[in-house]
Amino acid sequence: MYNEVDLNKIDINSEPPAEEPFRQYYFMAKCREWVRNFERKNGRCPTASVQTFGCQMNARDSEKIIGILKCIGYEETGSEEADIVVFNTCTVRENANLKLYGRIGQLKKYKKKNPDMVTVLCGCMMQEDEAVEKIRKSYNNVDIIFGTHNIFKLAELLAIKLLDMPGTKKMIVDIWEKPAGIVEELPAERKYPFKSGVNIMFGCNNFCSYCIVPYVRGRERSREPEDIIKEIQHLVNDGVVEVMLLGQNVNSYGKNLKDPISFTELLKRVERIEGLKRIRFMTSHPKDLSDGLIEFMGQSKKLCHHLHLPLQSGSSRILKIMNRHYTKESYLELVEKIRKAVPDIAITTDIIVGFPGETEEDFKETLDVIEKAEYDSAFTFIYSKRTGTPAASMEAQVSEEVVKERFERLLKTVQCTSAKKASLSEGKIADVLVEEKNVQEEGFVTGRTGQNYLVHFKGDESLIGKIVPVKLCESKGFYYYGEIQRNF
Ligand code: SAH
Ligand code: SF4
Ligand code: F3S
Repeated sequence: MYNEVDLNKIDINSEPPAEEPFRQYYFMAKCREWVRNFERKNGRCPTASVQTFGCQMNARDSEKIIGILKCIGYEETGSEEADIVVFNTCTVRENANLKLYGRIGQLKKYKKKNPDMVTVLCGCMMQEDEAVEKIRKSYNNVDIIFGTHNIFKLAELLAIKLLDMPGTKKMIVDIWEKPAGIVEELPAERKYPFKSGVNIMFGCNNFCSYCIVPYVRGRERSREPEDIIKEIQHLVNDGVVEVMLLGQNVNSYGKNLKDPISFTELLKRVERIEGLKRIRFMTSHPKDLSDGLIEFMGQSKKLCHHLHLPLQSGSSRILKIMNRHYTKESYLELVEKIRKAVPDIAITTDIIVGFPGETEEDFKETLDVIEKAEYDSAFTFIYSKRTGTPAASMEAQVSEEVVKERFERLLKTVQCTSAKKASLSEGKIADVLVEEKNVQEEGFVTGRTGQNYLVHFKGDESLIGKIVPVKLCESKGFYYYGEIQRNF
């Protein structure tokens, strides 16, 4: 189906259908009628701005939101001075929340200029009662709030707002505590025409003791493999050459399906799709990474040689309290096994510093793993207390001063190991998927290697979307200057 639904054929004067996704297409058609009137009145399309605050999953949700808005007839704009502004929020760390309140406040001035502007909040932070209460009380410029489990309902909620149905004058708040079924076949936009994220599962069952995600995204649910393959096939027919399969823990994909299948089996099916050239996935929990997957990574022609394998801490003692289900030793063994099977693999990670009770010794274990694992890069985070998680009520929270000092040392170690690692590939030739014109340097384009390194090299726009061989001439830490090999 995807994008092929003809909204003009929907009878918007009939009762809305009960079944999804048809119900939503009905409301899209209703909203489109509103858009037509807007165009007649204002002589232009209404504009939409969707801002992503969180992870890849959050970014993919934003693409679904843009897909629905474009289907209705909105035109996307980068400016927040738009006819509809959507903030797709994240709550994984507290500073993300604090920033958001400031940003909502700033929108008030745009609403003064354009009283018909619609402000929408959605995403993980909206699954938290406290946050929603605060917004209800202090931000009357917000029109619609929904959560992570009912993104598909955007058109329906917007129709209530735009078409003066009951409830319009008030803030529309629709948050579900739990997910219902997965709604397939709604439109989704993508940032690049040649690559796309694809959700393979939603939610998380792991309950790492510091993490809010399972509370705001619900329990793990996998999509049916047939639905995933159908979506990717559709994307490939539309020009996509690279997909990134998305889930909080892709290694446990398929376990809760009626006919369970493993993640490796799914990858094998995806690999068979003709025309698809590259497959990535994110994120892998070390406790569930199977030997079958490692073996397949070594054999596959399409799987990129990049693995994001969050460590969180190098101390087995802390890992236990974090509820991660692996130790320093088993993690390092895993890394060794992967490197043996896939020698040119790039491994990246996430690290938290300052988890409650972390001692200098624990922290040194983390530094030790960084050196031993030879990461290509690492995202480093200062531990943030999330109300409702077990870690928030643990004693011995580490002082701000100690955390800051450790964080500086962590950054230095990470920078040093990744620079060393990147320099090892200097002089090699890599296949690069060209993504965009380089904005800083005239006549240059930027692309990505299978290992996920950025490469800048001389070239023109006609290369965008193509995979070309490029010599990695000079390493600059997290990117290279390269030279395209003309004889490809
Ligand atoms: N599902 C993924 C991670 C999702 S959240 C995984 O398990 O790897 C992304 C990263 O945010 C985590 O890997 C972790 O490093 C970090 N993070 C999560 N909760 C945090 C907290 N309370 N404080 C600081 N960092 C946190
Ligand atoms: Fe959070 Fe752990 Fe789930 Fe990742 S695996 S989303 S860190 S609870
Ligand atoms: Fe943030 Fe939600 Fe992702 S809390 S990190 S946007 S799953």
